[in-house]
Amino acid sequence: MTAGGAGWVVLGAGGHARSVVDVLERAGHTVVAVSGTVSGAAPGGERWHVDVLSDDRAAFELIEAQGLQAVVAIGANPARARLVRELVARGLPVPPVVAATATVSPRSVLGAGCVVLEHAHVGAASSLGVAVVVNTGAVVEHDCTVGDGAHIAPGAVLLGAASVGDGSLVGSGARVLPGVTVGAGVTVGAGAVVTARVADGETVVGVPAETRDPRSTPDTRPPGGTA
Ligand SMILES: CC(C)(COP(=O)(O)OP(=O)(O)OC[C@H]1O[C@@H](n2cnc3c(N)ncnc32)[C@H](O)[C@@H]1OP(=O)(O)O)[C@@H](O)C(=O)NCCC(=O)NCCS
Repeated sequence: MTAGGAGWVVLGAGGHARSVVDVLERAGHTVVAVSGTVSGAAPGGERWHVDVLSDDRAAFELIEAQGLQAVVAIGANPARARLVRELVARGLPVPPVVAATATVSPRSVLGAGCVVLEHAHVGAASSLGVAVVVNTGAVVEHDCTVGDGAHIAPGAVLLGAASVGDGSLVGSGARVLPGVTVGAGVTVGAGAVVTARVADGETVVGVPAETRDPRSTPDTRPPGGTA
């Protein structure tokens, strides 16, 4: 399902990028370069066996000059979505990437720059916006809607007809029950079970998931403020 032919440039050079390089190579594709600040250490010393470009401009130029394809592999949800939109606006190819071991229904729709990692599943009639990550072993069941730049973390599950808004993170191992709506900019904590609608911008944790106690959020108000 991953587009074939031309080689790939991976925008991003951290842990998520290493996973995406693996996915591409296991599916038989050639990765020409990665771009960005290299973060994290890979065991065994060598981090990359491909060229590392200093920044995204250099990546754009290489993609254009050599007719390559792009995938954005950065963890920050809004930044990933922005960069995918910029690539699309420049007319550069940024097709979905699907791991060889993932299963994606032909009746689902994946937006530009989506990445479906190893052993993940996207079910029938589900719709994923641009720059969505369905991480290792995550499941997006049938009839789900996932907004631009959302991230369904390793082992998380969206049950049938659930929906997740733009830029939200559904943490590792969390579950969103059938038909339940998670708003935009939400963080669902690892292992949570979301049983009811979550409003935009909330962080929820636990079983059943509840808004995190605001006392656990550091107070950033200026001293002496009344607001
Ligand atoms: C929910 C979450 C966002 C909170 O992060 P944080 O703001 O840094 O919170 P802290 O680690 O400071 O913990 C604050 C409190 O919440 C609790 N907490 C943190 N994560 C929790 C979770 N997933 N479920 C239940 N409680 C949790 C902590 O135990 C702590 O409780 P305390 O105040 O009683 O000691 C985070 O822990 C989480 O689950 N992130 C998802 C990670 C993930 O799956 N990433 C995908 C990477 S590919």
